[in-house]
Amino acid sequence: MSKTVTARAHTNIALVKYWGKKDDELIIPMNSSLSLTLDHFYTDTTVTFDSQLVADHFTLDGQSTPVSAKITRVIDRVRTLAGITTPARIDSINHVPNMAGLASSASAFAALALAASQAAGLDLSLRDVSRLARRGSGSATRSVYGGFVEWQMGHDDTDSYAVPYLEHPDWDIHVLAVVVNSAPKAISSTAGMKRVVSTSPFYPAWVEQTAKDMVTIKQAITAHDFTQLGETAEANAMKMHALNMAALPPFSYFSPDTIQILDAIAELRRQGYECYATIDAGPNVKILCQAATKDHIINYIQGLLPTSQIYSATVGPGATICE
Ligand code: ADP
Ligand code: DP6
Ligand code: CO
Repeated sequence: MSKTVTARAHTNIALVKYWGKKDDELIIPMNSSLSLTLDHFYTDTTVTFDSQLVADHFTLDGQSTPVSAKITRVIDRVRTLAGITTPARIDSINHVPNMAGLASSASAFAALALAASQAAGLDLSLRDVSRLARRGSGSATRSVYGGFVEWQMGHDDTDSYAVPYLEHPDWDIHVLAVVVNSAPKAISSTAGMKRVVSTSPFYPAWVEQTAKDMVTIKQAITAHDFTQLGETAEANAMKMHALNMAALPPFSYFSPDTIQILDAIAELRRQGYECYATIDAGPNVKILCQAATKDHIINYIQGLLPTSQIYSATVGPGATICE
């Protein structure tokens, strides 16, 4: 039996989104992306390669759960790299709602890649852990690192990985996750982006625009320019969601509450409380803001949507082994 290893990885929020694959198997993206790792949401995953097992076994939050194709891709790759055929026991705890557009797949597969590679006796570089996590879920590529992280799209398995852009930003930046619905979404990220790539007439424009947004957002981070960061992130998210509405058949992750929060953010800005929205594949809105206005923004949104849950996050760390 191999050693038992537990790893923790945090989710990340993309400020320039990954939305579309060039290669579905290896998860090579159509565009580079940039995210901020968050301290509040994370996954702990424990892996043991155990010759007593007849097949891989997975539990999520204590419940025996079918081993997904995404998990198999990561574990099979680890076995190939380690030269073993032993089945794995994988136990994972999400401190993030599953499949609600809060990037559970990002923390999940970054934690799995780190725990499984170590359990198999591999001592991969963080770059190689990032490449391994990518095979589980694209957004997980970035969760290997803390702070602001760039996923350089590359061309193939060897050069598509994340690099830290600014790992320890000495910057007052907060992300409020407004959860209006934590139920699993109807269209997974994987399915949504696949439909968009093959049917959305605006897709070529998206690829062009994100390349420009990458340049602008990096400038904003380097200059600690919160306004430029927020404006770029919000516009990038809206462009992504516009692709979905233009797909065939069209779809949207927005709910009426999503729109209400977007309107509230515009109103808060008019009142001088600077904040910006970004939205992943789900109805929940993440608000970028700074310490001085954070409490006012929380109270305002909570007053508008009393049943919503608002979580306050800031910069989070990279993936680590739990001793
Ligand atoms: P999200 O917005 O939560 O990232 P996705 O559409 O990417 O939603 O779907 C999440 C995927 O990650 C699903 O396939 C789900 O089964 C998987 N997943 C979530 N948590 C874990 C975990 N802790 N370990 C393994 N797989 C997980
Ligand atoms: C909107 O990483 O969940 O959150 O690679 O198919 O697992 P798969 O998709 P996933 O997609 C994330 C999409 C996004 C934007 C982002 O995180 O960059
Ligand atoms: Co995901």
